[in-house]
Amino acid sequence: MTEVPHRLHDKYPELGRGPIPIEPYISEQYWQEEKSKLFRKTWLHVGRVEELPKAGDFFVKDLPACDASIIIVRTKKGDIRAMHNVCAHRMNQIVYEERGNTRKFFCKFHGWAYDLEGNLTGVPDEDCFFDLDRCKYGLTTVACEIWQGFIFIHVDPNPAMTLADFMEPMYGNVEGYPFDKMTSCFSWTTEVDCNWKLALDAFQEAYHVAYVHGNSIADSIKTESGGSMRPLDGLCGDYHRRLSLAGNTKTVYGNPKAVTAGGAALEEALAESAAAKPISAAALKAGAGGARYEFPMEELPEGVNWTGSPDWMFDINVVFPDFYLSLRPNYFQAYNFRPIAHDRTLVEARVYYPEMLTAGGRFYQEYMKVQLRDVLLEDFSTLERTQSACETGAKSHMILQDYEIMVRHAFEVIERVLGRTPAEPIPA
Ligand code: FES
Ligand SMILES: [Fe+2]
Repeated sequence: MTEVPHRLHDKYPELGRGPIPIEPYISEQYWQEEKSKLFRKTWLHVGRVEELPKAGDFFVKDLPACDASIIIVRTKKGDIRAMHNVCAHRMNQIVYEERGNTRKFFCKFHGWAYDLEGNLTGVPDEDCFFDLDRCKYGLTTVACEIWQGFIFIHVDPNPAMTLADFMEPMYGNVEGYPFDKMTSCFSWTTEVDCNWKLALDAFQEAYHVAYVHGNSIADSIKTESGGSMRPLDGLCGDYHRRLSLAGNTKTVYGNPKAVTAGGAALEEALAESAAAKPISAAALKAGAGGARYEFPMEELPEGVNWTGSPDWMFDINVVFPDFYLSLRPNYFQAYNFRPIAHDRTLVEARVYYPEMLTAGGRFYQEYMKVQLRDVLLEDFSTLERTQSACETGAKSHMILQDYEIMVRHAFEVIERVLGRTPAEPIPA
């Protein structure tokens, strides 16, 4: 066997190289600790500002990991606020709908009314209460801040860290990515019977691509002479992480320049892949030049393709704890793996493209949508089986190779945040 350097782990010796316990994936107690010490104590991505273009636009995000249902709303002043979806009278949920537009929120139980800032403005039969001071009975606000158009909430109204302090050490050099120009969104939502970390793990390594995606997109990843799909590089921060992957420029999916720059890059991608994948090649050809905006690689911020590789395909960014943000030159994926219980996860997968101006562009986008759906189904095919297998108790630990360092980093960060040390036994 040829000796390969363990490049990613060599950069982060403090993460160790040993096996990782599976208790965090199956333990009810671990999940309770995650709820109280992690999810209630950190910033959580809930959506994008484009979802709330007008005053009165709102959506509701249920967050079982915080035991919370949160209303996110654009106020008349134009700012975005977040508050608990809990009436101050007898605690009914104020909003039942997933999203909408309103001038006021009316509780459907006894009709109390709140304005867009959460102030109590109307109480039927108010005289029958006992010295009711409306000022004391507004909706309970939570912290809400915006990073690059992404709305984050923190259920602690006075978080220990601002969102900027949370994001910038790792992602300051991604700021300026054209998120705001990619407004054509498609999405899937599903619930999976597995732990949220188990689902996220399947998206924070590319070791599985050759196998799980062997018949779909495996050819888009650059393969070394030994057959290995080695990442370009990885970064492990205090909380977040990033993995950069190289593409096979002779494939439809592996050459981002084929769509953004066209020309020689397009010809190269089409030349060898057209025979093997004629429909995807036709979609690529039809889509070239169809987007409202072009995205020259050299204009991307420094943190996107931070290794500067000519073969760069995309970066996986995992924003702690559960937000997967994959950046490519012409589209991005924003997935959340929201825990519901220790063995149940809500996956919200959103993909954002620029608006397309041509029929060919729309065809390309529709094709990519269907293709990605199939790839996601391949990813999901292992999750519930892996969860069941973890719960058999047949194995107590998993082992990781060099390219799976993000899985290890995720474990180490969570252990630290929970105040555990890796050696600490987890009670049954
Ligand atoms: S519970 Fe909302 S008005 Fe009574
Ligand atoms: Fe995958």
